[in-house]
Amino acid sequence: MEIINTVKDFESYRNSFIFNNKSIGFIPTMGALHKGHISLVKRSVDENDITIVSVFVNKRQFNDQSDYINYPVTTERDIELLEAENCDILFIPSDEDIYNNYEGHKMDFMGLDKIYEGEFRPGHFQGVVDIVYRLFEIIRPDRAYFGEKDFQQLAIIKLMTKQSGLNIDIVPCPIVRENSGLAMSSRNERLSDDLRIKAAKIYQILKKYSSALTINDSPGDIIKSIANEINKEDYLETEYIIFCDPETLRPIEKFEKNMNIRLCLAVWCKKVRLIDNISLHF
Ligand code: PAF
Repeated sequence: MEIINTVKDFESYRNSFIFNNKSIGFIPTMGALHKGHISLVKRSVDENDITIVSVFVNKRQFNDQSDYINYPVTTERDIELLEAENCDILFIPSDEDIYNNYEGHKMDFMGLDKIYEGEFRPGHFQGVVDIVYRLFEIIRPDRAYFGEKDFQQLAIIKLMTKQSGLNIDIVPCPIVRENSGLAMSSRNERLSDDLRIKAAKIYQILKKYSSALTINDSPGDIIKSIANEINKEDYLETEYIIFCDPETLRPIEKFEKNMNIRLCLAVWCKKVRLIDNISLHF
């Protein structure tokens, strides 16, 4: 695996014969790689000639500076994991290199940056769009892989790619879970063993309610019941829960036949903010 640290070096590599007529799969990450990221890498290796992973802890998308400072950095382990998966290139640029003379990327979020995650993390999605657009410009991939755990991020990246006319296929990949059901996340590294058991309750409760759901249920009432059950657990505190349309993300106020639905939520587990979602269909 080639490790490239500057935009300039990447660009000369990108322009070399190595990339000629080759399909490129790209996985942007902030490092602290886990099985969820690895599932994206495996998929890209299967579907492309060249797989590129970036590791860049993007300051601009952290609305909470302590979250940024505490974000886990595990570069040596990340390199080992990527080498084992036959990743071709690891791109680890510096802050100065990425943001030098780059104001950011303007797009019409159509309100998606202000709801759910956006309501509680002001500026977060603008930060995500800034870095993903910049990386897309540098890498110029054919396909880019994103996990469905960050469901709202995925919807916004799809919108950004469409609006800017980029010819990149955005490939959504299913959530990877621990045996307990807890969605894999780099933030799980900050949970003690006891808190991991607590955090696993989130998915267990989601599963319990979603499998008993009927078309005549009121989304609002189910949201209240799920929140009550989560909040009853020590150290868990719900921030939001929403039933929404998986394409437009608009909230669902009434269930109807043939409806595709995503149930999305954010929960604090002591000082760690976790998100998860589950797909439903009537
Ligand atoms: O999902 C993430 O890890 C980040 O938001 C991303 C897409 C790498 C942008 O920094």
